[in-house]
Amino acid sequence: MNTIQIKDKTFAVSIKEQDILQEVSRVAQEISRDLAGKNPLFLSVLNGSFMFAADLLKRITIPCEISFVKMASYSGTASTGAVKELIGLNEDISGRTIVIVEDIVDTGFTMQRMLEVLRTKNPAEIHIATLLVKPDKLAVDLDIEYAAMHIPNDFIVGYGLDYDGHGRNYKDIYIVVNEE
Ligand code: IMP
Ligand code: MG
Repeated sequence: MNTIQIKDKTFAVSIKEQDILQEVSRVAQEISRDLAGKNPLFLSVLNGSFMFAADLLKRITIPCEISFVKMASYSGTASTGAVKELIGLNEDISGRTIVIVEDIVDTGFTMQRMLEVLRTKNPAEIHIATLLVKPDKLAVDLDIEYAAMHIPNDFIVGYGLDYDGHGRNYKDIYIVVNEE
């Protein structure tokens, strides 16, 4: 079996690059069809979505723009806990068609927070494009229009996704093995 070791965990190949790219191409076609004439602004959420964003944008066939943002945790008060803040958005997005480009929607809390922040800036519409969804973990109501793949509730790395900062460089997606 094709496995990799990252720190204390072993991972096995789960989704090959070729299969990832086939689904990324499908999503790119859907977006190009649905958002034609709207000059969408893609907002790639760093760090995890960098590889997906690159492969997706290469396959978008309509005029568009891309910018890169980050959801950064900062410590709130003891009662509020960690709150996520959007950083890096320099564009005026009012009246724009926005496509959020994410690596994975797990519980959905990060995406929900992102939508909340973006809506205060008056875009015309906001769409969600994510490489992966873990439907079993989704805890909030989100309209995920563009999802390349749905996966079970296991921890994965590769193709931009990390375990403790490592593993983003692999071209395939790997799933953790032997986890008790
Ligand atoms: P959410 O707020 O629970 O939806 O968390 C989303 C974030 O958690 C993603 O943007 C990832 O950074 C991280 N994440 C969730 N599941 C995984 C995984 O299986 N591997 C790597 N990162 C993950
Ligand atoms: Mg992420």
